[in-house]
Amino acid sequence: MSDLTTLDIHGSVAVIRTDSPPVNALAAPVRAGLLRALQRAEADPAVQAIVLTCAGRTFHAGADIHELASGPVSPTLQDVLLSLEGTRKIVVAALHGTTLGGGLELALTADYRIAADASTVGLPEVLLGLIPGAGGTQRLPRAAGVAVAVDLITSGRQMSALDAQQAGIIDRVVPSDQLTAAAIDWAQALVAHGAPRRRLSDDSVPGSMTDNLATLDAVARQQVKPWSRLDAPQAACRALHAAITQPFAEGVATERAEFLGLLKGSQSRALRHLFFAERAVAKSRWISASAVGREWRTLGIVGAGTMGSGIALSCLNAGLSVHLVENHAQALERGLSTIRGHYESRVATGKLSAEAAAARLTCLTTTTDLASLADCDLVIEAIYENMEAKLELFRQLDALCKPDAILASNTSYLNIDAMAAVTTRPSQVLGLHFFSPAHVNRLLEIIRTEHVSESTLASAMAWSKRIKKLGVVVGNAHGFVGNRMLAPRQREADKLILEGALPWEVDRVLEAFGLPMGPFRMRDLAGMDIGWNPATTASATVRERLCEIGRLGQKTKAGYYDYDDQRRATPSNVAQEVVLRFSAEHGYVRRAVSETEILERCLYPMINEGARLLAEGIAERASDIDMVWTTGYGWPTWTGGPMHWAETVGWATIVERLEVYAALYGAEFTPCDALRQWAAPASQPGV
Ligand code: COA
Repeated sequence: MSDLTTLDIHGSVAVIRTDSPPVNALAAPVRAGLLRALQRAEADPAVQAIVLTCAGRTFHAGADIHELASGPVSPTLQDVLLSLEGTRKIVVAALHGTTLGGGLELALTADYRIAADASTVGLPEVLLGLIPGAGGTQRLPRAAGVAVAVDLITSGRQMSALDAQQAGIIDRVVPSDQLTAAAIDWAQALVAHGAPRRRLSDDSVPGSMTDNLATLDAVARQQVKPWSRLDAPQAACRALHAAITQPFAEGVATERAEFLGLLKGSQSRALRHLFFAERAVAKSRWISASAVGREWRTLGIVGAGTMGSGIALSCLNAGLSVHLVENHAQALERGLSTIRGHYESRVATGKLSAEAAAARLTCLTTTTDLASLADCDLVIEAIYENMEAKLELFRQLDALCKPDAILASNTSYLNIDAMAAVTTRPSQVLGLHFFSPAHVNRLLEIIRTEHVSESTLASAMAWSKRIKKLGVVVGNAHGFVGNRMLAPRQREADKLILEGALPWEVDRVLEAFGLPMGPFRMRDLAGMDIGWNPATTASATVRERLCEIGRLGQKTKAGYYDYDDQRRATPSNVAQEVVLRFSAEHGYVRRAVSETEILERCLYPMINEGARLLAEGIAERASDIDMVWTTGYGWPTWTGGPMHWAETVGWATIVERLEVYAALYGAEFTPCDALRQWAAPASQPGV
């Protein structure tokens, strides 16, 4: 037997147990071990039933994602499943943990399935740009019907064991600590009662073909927009169509062809890259494995504006106590009503029970007295972006907070070392940069200040998980990682509309690329007047001019676009006039700007900035940048994030285009040294 798979005989039952940490992924050695164990059990006349089980935290959590990069390796999972289907013995799969992907396909090929009560099952391949490739799209609808199958396969979501039992995927659910014994007893009982073999491949999909096709069609029609750029859910629907309309063997062949097509495609490569990028982010080189953090339980937030209230919501949702502080009672009341309004709407839409909402609100205290933060473990300032005001606040907080309290800034751009420097505790000062809307957006940039301690960073990383954020440790630089890369894009977008493009043309190109919103639509949404001062405005930019005539964006129903009551945007003639006049006054001779130029001039300088961030050590890895942008800014996941995408474009191509633009439009396009180096073969950053 392989070291990873053992076979033990219990009376007439052979227990095949795989132990391949961390998640018993179905890598080649595991598949080989399973195959050998199945052959041995088959050959043993004393064995009448087989129990498939796993040691450790979970039954098989799917294929080994590392291995997918090299294409199918023998023996394949299909080889194992064929052997399973071919055996004359009854097979019981005993599931615990997260039975996912190939793990569930294996279980669905067994005759009977028993699961631990706390476990879940799912076919998450779509999240990796794939579909199940070993019969999952054919067996699941046979077990659970088309509606359940299309939901699980196209969403990738996990289902609890109890729900899976209701759906017909699992036969029995038992307490976790009784799983193996219950599986063996059940297998023995099945043998004793002469229970038949039960192969889903012998069944057809329940329900009439017409109804099943209608169900599939209805889901596909509902999802036209979200799926429009994604290959995998559409392929899943084609495989499910085959399950409904073709005999099992043909359906399996259709599924396999779809799977192999996706495996070769760029989307799956990109999404698999993001899977590992997300896990890498949790391991910052600034936090050693032995670093011990502290748990932050009581939290103070200074500033009850949009960001402060959103941060408060994130923490309340995680069951933490929050003290929210504002200078003035009115501002505090506004913050409180934002938070209350959020919970009221969650309750009204049935997303949260009234009791749970009330419980969360009891963890919130609001006050205008800064001194009430004295006992907080962590205080986050979320006041307006003014360095002097922040420095003064840090001085005050340092004086009144308990000695081991951590002080954090939610600034989007400002120098946090300067804030740390006015305190007596620089090792306990860091940045916690949330992204709007803070209770929805998963990204949290954890900004490493010069003197911050490892323990403070470790606490921040653990806390980010507690509040369900993706914490990415980044260096302290103007705009950190995300906003620093955003700046050149905005700069070019602003220039392009003076040279000849119109705001909606720029937006359209970037939205067609896959960004949720172009730069001008985004500015309208955020508010054109962020950082604009009516007292000092000087008509120096198109944006200032729009603000001066009251076009502040969506909130005034007018910005670059006009907005109707449903917030639908139409290009504004007034804004166009402002752009054209400004452009003429500043001596631009407008010209036709191609879509390629818009895309390259907006995105390639971002890549250049990303390379600089890496060279300066502000970003730790190229894949961290990809996580920042896909999680925080809606960069299309199917491209793998800006740096992975750049690698697919080719570093040399990007350098070459930047040089062309530098010659035409100026030094800000000049490729940085790091980017030039990557463009040389054999010195790439390993995105
Ligand atoms: N193949 C290879 N490695 C895998 C893996 C897989 N299918 N699933 C998890 N891992 C690795 C992770 O990369 C991580 O490795 P690391 O510690 O070196 O970073 C480790 O297992 C633990 O995974 P992690 O996600 O950190 O643990 P978790 O407890 O939060 O989640 C799972 C466990 C199984 C739910 C989650 O890892 C997951 O969803 N895996 C993918 C399942 C999947 O998509 N299967 C179908 C593949 S086609």
